[in-house]
Amino acid sequence: MTIKELEKLLSEMSLEEKVGQMVQRSASVMAEGTIVTGPEGTVDSEEMSVGLIGSVLGKRGAGPLHKIQKEFVEKHPHHIPLLMMYDVINGLETIFPIPLAQGCTFSSQLVEEAANIAMKETVAAGVNVTFSPMLDLVRDARWGRVVESTGEDPWLNSQMAKAMVRGYQSKGKLAACFKHFAAYGAPEGGRDYDNVELSERTLREDYLPAYRAAVEEGCAMAMTSFNTWNRLPSTGNKWLLRKVLRDEMGFDGVLISDFAAIDEMIRWGIVEDSREAAKLAIKAGVDIDMHSNGYMNHLVRLVREGEVDESLVDEAVMRILKLKNSLGLFEQAYAGFEEDETALLVCDAHRKKACEVATASFVLLKNEGLLPLNKTEETIAFIGPYVDNINIYGTWSFPEKPKNTITVKQAVMKKSQEVLFAKGAYVLDEGQNTRMQDTEERPVSEELLLRAAVEAARKADKVVLCLGEHRNQSGEGGSRASIGLPEGQLKLLEKVSEVNANIISVIFSGRPLELNKVENLSKSILMVWMPGTEGGNAIANVLFGDVVPQGKLAMTLPRSVGQVPIYYGQFNTGRPNPTGIKIGFVHGYIDESTRPLYPFGHGLSYTTFSYSPVVLSQKEMNKNGTIVAKVVVANDGDYAGTETVQLYLRDVKGSVIRPVKMLRGIEKIKLKPGERQDVSFVITEEMLRFYNADMEYVSEPGLFHVFIGTSSDTDNMAEFLLVSETE
Ligand code: BGC
Repeated sequence: MTIKELEKLLSEMSLEEKVGQMVQRSASVMAEGTIVTGPEGTVDSEEMSVGLIGSVLGKRGAGPLHKIQKEFVEKHPHHIPLLMMYDVINGLETIFPIPLAQGCTFSSQLVEEAANIAMKETVAAGVNVTFSPMLDLVRDARWGRVVESTGEDPWLNSQMAKAMVRGYQSKGKLAACFKHFAAYGAPEGGRDYDNVELSERTLREDYLPAYRAAVEEGCAMAMTSFNTWNRLPSTGNKWLLRKVLRDEMGFDGVLISDFAAIDEMIRWGIVEDSREAAKLAIKAGVDIDMHSNGYMNHLVRLVREGEVDESLVDEAVMRILKLKNSLGLFEQAYAGFEEDETALLVCDAHRKKACEVATASFVLLKNEGLLPLNKTEETIAFIGPYVDNINIYGTWSFPEKPKNTITVKQAVMKKSQEVLFAKGAYVLDEGQNTRMQDTEERPVSEELLLRAAVEAARKADKVVLCLGEHRNQSGEGGSRASIGLPEGQLKLLEKVSEVNANIISVIFSGRPLELNKVENLSKSILMVWMPGTEGGNAIANVLFGDVVPQGKLAMTLPRSVGQVPIYYGQFNTGRPNPTGIKIGFVHGYIDESTRPLYPFGHGLSYTTFSYSPVVLSQKEMNKNGTIVAKVVVANDGDYAGTETVQLYLRDVKGSVIRPVKMLRGIEKIKLKPGERQDVSFVITEEMLRFYNADMEYVSEPGLFHVFIGTSSDTDNMAEFLLVSETE
């Protein structure tokens, strides 16, 4: 339809029909078998006919969705199709690694390819909108939803945001919805749904860039967040939604509330009732009410009684109609599919890519010579509750056939027959809570499991211990006050280490865990996060050296929960303490180092890379100029490998305090043994800008440090002066 035709349609719609477009309900109002992702019980639907709503969420499947659509469109007074929305976070059927792991690939290309495959499967399943990418910056590993983010760094997250939006929207058949606007990743104490206390400067400088990147990439939708900022729930914050998102960032897509977030403003103590909540939300700029009573039960009357201007409804509905139009729904709401659904789901090509992304996301934290494993010359015992476990696909994945997932055991058996297997422990301790109150079947006593594992360990040359969090110990509502492994698994680690010192720990998790005991008792550690459908194959490929690891930490690994929030881009303080160990009146703790266990950007390979000192093209730069920073990277080891070369900048003196390092560039290079390569980065004035003391986004003349290295911990540094034109 042309814009004129859409405008004509809008002018012919009744107020009830228009408000209907702004209402989203769970697809369970129309069909069985819907995934419910929030408190379903809060909504009653008496005031408005479900036959007028504009979108549904939580259901996928070409057949059922098209049935719903057909019946709906035929009955709707203007035959306006529904938008079908679903949470496709890291794949639909072919499950890719969790977003936090995808961040660890440091590869926009792989992340875009993963999103592209997810898009194909999602479109084939009849879904029009995915509630992804999740772009909340995360620096507190207690928060369960760090699993959904690509990590702690504004620059890296922005690259990942763009990659995901491109991947999802490349065919014009799926709309991406970035979320959760804004700063949902910084709840106080890491407690989900809590208040956020951040200065406007930190919000703008660290938390907004990834959302802005999604807007720049043309992301079709955005979602508000559950949290407050500046003591206002985002869903009712006009400054945030109209001024920052619409006016400053130029977002002109559809803005949806999070699940029931409009009515939740009542419990936040901001509004009296659902009617007031609806009024606040529409004035703030929310176009669609996801699953609360507000718009459905009150918006028509609010307009009729003169409390809400109808033009606000019209502008929201126009945006929604435009989105439906851009997805081709007016022409093809329930026609046949272009692709054959069955041919697409979990096909070989998708599996292959999922395996590649998973291997690239694994982070080799340490390796004291035990990896890679030898397929023929050693006896290896694979021990732990993740050896033969298909629940390795993360919290937001609901594959129709979870059995498509390859376990470590299945994959290892294809590589080598000389392997011992033992479960050793259950994932959870008896009675341990998860966000879904999961229980594990415990047919055998813990004592027996342990004994068999110790026996296997005794017979082996090396032990691969597959340990980790339960998939539902992270995710929405999955915050933890302690972030260690379950006690039963720690006991397994201790007992095994008493009979075999050659321990390689493979860690499954949805967040950075506290891994001190693992660090002390293992010679090698591989973080595999929640790797998805191809997890087993990817892990076996890396352990046996068929693929060389290359992942880098997208989130700092703390030594203890008391250190969080911990991130590489912290400030220097007036009493710096470079060793991290506190003696006297310097920054830090008396009972813990301030250094992380492993820093952001860290990740080893089976080979070793060396860096030449940083060389700059000149020592001064004016505001219109550039500087080229160069290093030579050499592969000094015995394996061909991929290194992620990282560029960090530091503004040594600013009108406000500046972080000790800021990631501003990455370059992935593949080097054969003995090979070397020049890597250069162009530094521009734009990379040096920040919100100065007057909240202007500018650079300030002065000294800058340029670091290029293998992680955020690098001290390979050169310096230059930014000079103003008049100097
Ligand atoms: C989550 C969103 C999700 C929505 C729809 C909410 O509870 O916060 O991230 O997209 O449910 O399922």
